[in-house]
This record gives sequence, structure tokens and C-alpha cells, in this order.
Amino acid sequence: MKGTFKRTLVTAALPYANGKIHLGHLAGAYLPADIYARYLRSRKREVAFICGSDEHGVPITITAEQEGVTPQAVVDRYHSLNRTAFDRFGMSFDNYSRTSLPLHHETAAGFFRNFLDRGILTEKTEDQLFDEEAGMFLPDRYVEGTCPVCKNPDARGDQCEKCGTFLNPRELIDPRSKISGKKPSVRATTHWYFPLGKYQKRLEEYIRDADKRDGWKQNVLQYCQGWFKEGLQDRAVTRDLDWGVKIPLPGFEKKVLYVWFDAVLGYISGTREWAAREGDPDGWKKFWHDPSTKYVAFIGKDNVVFHCIVFPAMLMAWNDANPGEPFILPENVPANEFLNFESQKFSKSRGWGIDVDEFLDLFPADSLRYALTMILPESRDADFTWREFQARHNNELADILGNFINRTVTFAHRHFEGRVPDGGGSTPAAVLREIGGAGKKAAAAWERYSFKDGMLEVMNLARYANKYFNDAEPWKTVKTDSGAAASTIACCLNLARALAIYIEPVLPFTAKRIWDILRLPGDPSAAGWESASSGLMPAGHPVGSPEIIFTKIENTVIEERMNSLPGATGDGDPAGAAQTPHIALDDFKKVSLRVAKVLAAERVPKSEKLLKIRISLGDSERQVVAGIAKHYEPEALVGRKIVVVANLKPAKLMGEISEGMILAASDESGNLTILTVSEDIVEGSIVK
Ligand code: MF3
Ligand code: ZN
Repeated sequence: MKGTFKRTLVTAALPYANGKIHLGHLAGAYLPADIYARYLRSRKREVAFICGSDEHGVPITITAEQEGVTPQAVVDRYHSLNRTAFDRFGMSFDNYSRTSLPLHHETAAGFFRNFLDRGILTEKTEDQLFDEEAGMFLPDRYVEGTCPVCKNPDARGDQCEKCGTFLNPRELIDPRSKISGKKPSVRATTHWYFPLGKYQKRLEEYIRDADKRDGWKQNVLQYCQGWFKEGLQDRAVTRDLDWGVKIPLPGFEKKVLYVWFDAVLGYISGTREWAAREGDPDGWKKFWHDPSTKYVAFIGKDNVVFHCIVFPAMLMAWNDANPGEPFILPENVPANEFLNFESQKFSKSRGWGIDVDEFLDLFPADSLRYALTMILPESRDADFTWREFQARHNNELADILGNFINRTVTFAHRHFEGRVPDGGGSTPAAVLREIGGAGKKAAAAWERYSFKDGMLEVMNLARYANKYFNDAEPWKTVKTDSGAAASTIACCLNLARALAIYIEPVLPFTAKRIWDILRLPGDPSAAGWESASSGLMPAGHPVGSPEIIFTKIENTVIEERMNSLPGATGDGDPAGAAQTPHIALDDFKKVSLRVAKVLAAERVPKSEKLLKIRISLGDSERQVVAGIAKHYEPEALVGRKIVVVANLKPAKLMGEISEGMILAASDESGNLTILTVSEDIVEGSIVK
């Protein structure tokens, strides 16, 4: 590590307590953060690893309304479900806190108060959307409507999920209230604003310098550049809601802090809570105030602006106003891209994906940790598939790592009374070099947040170990030269010990199991990273019985998983629907299908496939371009009544505008027929 830091603060984004954690969340922030924290502990560095539930904000209150329970009931349930799921997954948080705790409210309200007293915030009265029926303002996700940028009809008031644009509810076209479904009215309301724009120059410098020192990820730098280019705007830090951190001011009884203002401060309150519980109430301060602490904030890409721009600006504002106790800023924000599941986005409503607890009911945590580590979306989106999971478990964990440990321990029992044989001297220098080299390479990768690369180095040591065993052929030498066999097995047992230490950040459960089989005291992390190539087991040290560490995952088990995906044939669907997931009725309703009459049709010049077709929808006319020239003469189409997708995003094909798509059926032998409807249906009719 770059010399000067004395300790490390590691945080992982606080998940909203309004739903269960799924594999995408793990791959985005949590697994990388855990590997990093575990690795640092193994290096004997001082670490605080902080996370917790984000329990405020509109996502929580909307869930509560949908379920007909109180927000408190929602967060209580999901906080405990997620904490348990994280535990089972082997997350080694020092504290998994929650933002509904009084200590957090006090911390967040304290920041707000301080900002107010020092004149950092400005008060503004502005028009905002209001639901007359529900009698309340509609901040953030309480409104949905059409995205002004990409025209997605279901953009949320705070962000369009389709194109990623951050929005203000008032920018939505055709807004509708999430509560009543009605079109909101507009009313004036007063809020406090944080002057983000004032910090732009310093933020740019901060990111440039931190990047120089610690090497930020390209994707993160690009997101930030995008924000800077647009120019940072003032941001309201209060909301008209009653669930959240209350504002300690007369006249503000009906307002709370904006969820992001309080949530990022959850890292601080979570550290405070941890220190107090450890019996050292001031122990959090060195992690946040001492510039020799390195702060690394792990997140998913959708959180970049809040962690690289908003939170640092808040800390800068605090530091200007309170020079006596300045906070440190993140030295790095390693954000991952998204993980898909079998080629599609995780979606709770479509039942697509798998929750962590459901997964861990079926397969060991380390198998999941390993598979995810090897496919982490570190620089681009990645895809989890059941087949790859099975292959990683069977061909790598079982066949390489598990097999090496098993054959080594079995051999020690069969030929050396279950003890480390007297190898007639120390482990060969070449093997020690191999161990040390693998440790160095893995460490270097993990220090620069390349978790996949680091684990590859560790697995390469396991591959080397197998090859070493094979090449030495102890099953032969044991009959001809027992000294040679003894030295091979002593060396392999020490390789097993080294592997246990190196795999621990990624495979903590397996590491401990190997450690116990080797009858070593404590655990691999306590023994420490450096001891992998030095702390060798003495001759005569007893080892436990061999165990199968990874049982292979059968095809039938994986097929059952694949069949349980929505839309798979095993689900009782007609065969034709195989591989297409279910969609909700609402999704289907987004497609506007209309009857159209063909007015004219002609070939698109220089194209073998395309026809441009003029159609009437009754109240309007338009042109569509269709790839059906090999199947229809243009004249044959004129006068026919066909079905078109009328709300498809317009596109240009060979220079011709196409505003819709003609429905057609095709079969495997290449036949194609356009869908036609009977003459007496008037053009423009809705198809549903
Ligand atoms: N709850 C947010 C999400 O799930 C993340 C909050 S991170 C914090 O996207 F820093 F604000 F806590
Ligand atoms: Zn959009």
C-alpha cells in the first residue's frame, strides 16, 4: 500500500431496507468491499468496515403503502432479513447499522443544524407537485411520468431508469401521482438548498488528485466528468414528508431531511455506533478526522454522483465551517457496473433473479462468492448464468482447489500416519518463491481493487500446487524413495496452508475448513498474509482426516434452477414460450398496437430487403420501413389492413424514417406473412 496511511475505513453503500438483497447488489458493492476488508485485516492493517440499512426516503414509504403497513414495520423486517442474508454470505462488517437509530438522527440533524448556523444553506420557495386527493406534496419517486430525455413512459420523479438521467419531478412529461394515479397540481413550498455549484472547482481538483494518488476507475471518472460538464446545481436537502430525519426548526415540523443527505452520513453514525459498542466512544474519530486514514467507499454505479460529488461537497462545507475537526474525503470510490441474471436485469416484479437467502438455501456461500468474484462487473456490465456458476464450482473449486487439498491430506494419512512428514529439510526454495510471488501478485491486484485478477493469481497457485503433486509422483516415489515422497507431501501440506491464507478474503468458510483440517490454531486471517510463505508446519504436526470440500453440482440441479425461471418450459408454459420470461400486463400495455391501412408501398433504393410503406391510422398518416421486400411485391400490399406497433421509437433505416413496425409471423423455413385483419375493422382501431 502507498506508504503513508495508518488505517483504512471501508464502507459499502447502505442498501434501502425495502426489499431483499440479490446477487446484483453483492456483485456491485458488497463482495468487493468484503474481499478488500478481509485482505487488509490479513495484512494486519487497522480497519473499520461499516455498512447498514438505509431506512428513509420514498422507496421505503411507497413499499409501506403498497403493503399496507407502517414504514417502521417495513424497515424492521428488511433490516433483519438483509442482515441475516449478509451474515450467511460471510460479510465481515464491523458494524451493520441502521439509519433509523437515534444516534444517526442526531448525527444527521447535527450536520444540517451546523450548515444552517454557518449560513451554508439557502432557503428557496418553489412550485412543486402536489396530490390534491392525498393532500400531500409528491417528492422524488412519488411521481412517475414520461422522461423528457428518452421518452420512457415510466420514468420516476428522481431518475429515469432507462437512460439514467437524474430528474426533478417537475421535468416529467404527463406526471402522475404514485398515490392516487391522478395528475398532480402545483403548489409553492419552501426548502433548504445546498449550493453544490460553489464546490465544483474544488470537487474537480479533489477527484483529479485522488485519482493521481490512488488510481480511480475509468467508469467512475467518466460519470463525474459528465456531471461536471453539465454544471452542478443547487440541491434541495429537505422534503415535505413525515418519514425521515426531522428538522429541528420551528415551521419545519412537516419536513424531513432529503434521504441522500442523511444516508451518506450513515457511514459516520455507523462508525460512531461501532466505536461506542467497542467501549471506545471516541474511537470513531481517528477513522474520520485523521488524515492518515485511507477512506475507500464501495458502491454500485448508480450511486456515483452521491459519493463522488454530493458527499465530498458536504464534507468540504463542513470542513470550511469547522476547521477544528475536518473530515477526510474518500480516497477512492470503486464503483462496479451492473450484474445481469441470465442476460436480463434483475427484477423483483418480474420474478427475475434470485435473492441471496434463497441462493444460500441451495448452494454454499463460498461457491457463490467465488463465482461472483470471477465475473465481477468491474469495468462493464456482467452476466450471471447458472451454467457458469456450475462450471466455476465444479471445474475450479472442486477440481483444482478441493482436489489438491483432498489428495494431499489423503496421502498424508495413507502413508505418513496423518502427520506432516519429515521432509528432510525445508520446503524447496522454488516452491516458497512461488507462494510468495502469488501472494504479491494477488495483493497488488486487490490493493488496486481488481478483485477478479487477484483471485486468478490465487487460483494459479492452486493450479501450480496440483502440478507440483503430479510431477513429483509421490505415489511412485513412496515405493522407491520414501524420503522424496515425504518431502513432496510436507511441501504440499504447506502449500495447502498458504492457499488457506490466500483464499480467505474470497472464500472465508473454505479457508477456515482447510485450516481446521490442517489442525492449525486460530484462523488463517489471524495467522496473517505474510505467514503464507514463512509460517511452515513442523514435521510431526498432526493433520485431520480428509474431507470432500466441494461436492460437485449435478446437471439436474442446475437444470431445475433454469426451469424455475419465469417463462421456462418447465414452468408449464406452451413450448413456444420457452426462454421468454413472463411480462406483467402493464408491460404489455406499454405497446400500442393499431390497425393501419396501407396507402402506398415502394422499394427502398439499393436495398434488397426493405420496403417503405405509407400507412393511415385513421387520424394520421406516417411511413414505416419493413424488411419484407423478399416476401411481398409492393403493389400487393396496397389497400390491406395490417397491424403495427404505433409507439415504437422512430428510427432511420437506409436513410428512410420509420415510425412504427409491421407485425408479421415467420417460421423456421423462412416463410413470412404479415398480419392482416378483416376489411370491416376501421383503421386506427386498437389491438389488444
Ligand atoms: N440506499 C441507496 C441505494 O440502495 C444507497 C445509499 S448509500 C448511502 O441505492 F451512502 F447513502 F448510504
Ligand atoms: Zn429517460
